[in-house]
Amino acid sequence: MEFAKKEITLKNGKTAILRSPTPEDAEDFLAFFTQAAAETPFLLSSPEDPPLTVEAETQWIQGILQSEAQVAILCLVDGKIAGNCLISFSPKKKVRHRGRVAIALLREYWGNHIGSMLFEEMISIAKGWHLTQLELEFIEGNDRARGLYEKMGFRITGEIPNAIRLSDGTMLKEFQMVRAMGE
Ligand SMILES: CC(C)(COP(=O)(O)OP(=O)(O)OC[C@H]1O[C@@H](n2cnc3c(N)ncnc32)[C@H](O)[C@@H]1OP(=O)(O)O)[C@@H](O)C(=O)NCCC(=O)NCCS
Repeated sequence: MEFAKKEITLKNGKTAILRSPTPEDAEDFLAFFTQAAAETPFLLSSPEDPPLTVEAETQWIQGILQSEAQVAILCLVDGKIAGNCLISFSPKKKVRHRGRVAIALLREYWGNHIGSMLFEEMISIAKGWHLTQLELEFIEGNDRARGLYEKMGFRITGEIPNAIRLSDGTMLKEFQMVRAMGE
């Protein structure tokens, strides 16, 4: 589904654009995502994974735009992709009430409320879709993400031990969070 383009003002006073990715963004999106994954251990993707391709990104973007159950939002600052988020639901009837969300920003843009503003948009989309709860996961130690999610009304509902193995062998838990809608 498409997200209608809008302008937002960041905590530092700068203007940013929120809009859907288009197939023409595939190359820039790949560069953005590769950098984001290299800058934090808290995303599931890492530079050690097989590289993605522009063709795969183009198909991924086209799939989202054609889907009634997915919306991706890019945040552009000075024309550069600073962040991205994705909200989706499964059309299967038994789980149609549950939404999933994910978010990542480049490190230089952290702390400017882009995360908070992207979450406000996703919560508004979730209400429009009549979802009754939103769900996500974060990795042990990702205090900034946890702070954002708690601020946006999510609460921890469970954890998976040894969910993530870093390249030095460190094992980390994954926490599951849920936000009930209508709050
Ligand atoms: C997690 C992430 C999306 C947060 O986005 P952000 O734009 O930096 O977050 P915001 O500026 O909107 O901050 C939101 C809230 O988080 C909390 N917060 C910020 N930094 C924090 C920290 N270091 N520790 C705990 N809470 C923190 C605050 O409550 C803040 O709200 P406030 O400024 O009104 O008090 C961003 O840091 C990111 O992309 N990180 C790398 C990728 C990632 O970890 N993605 C999530 C995977 S689960």
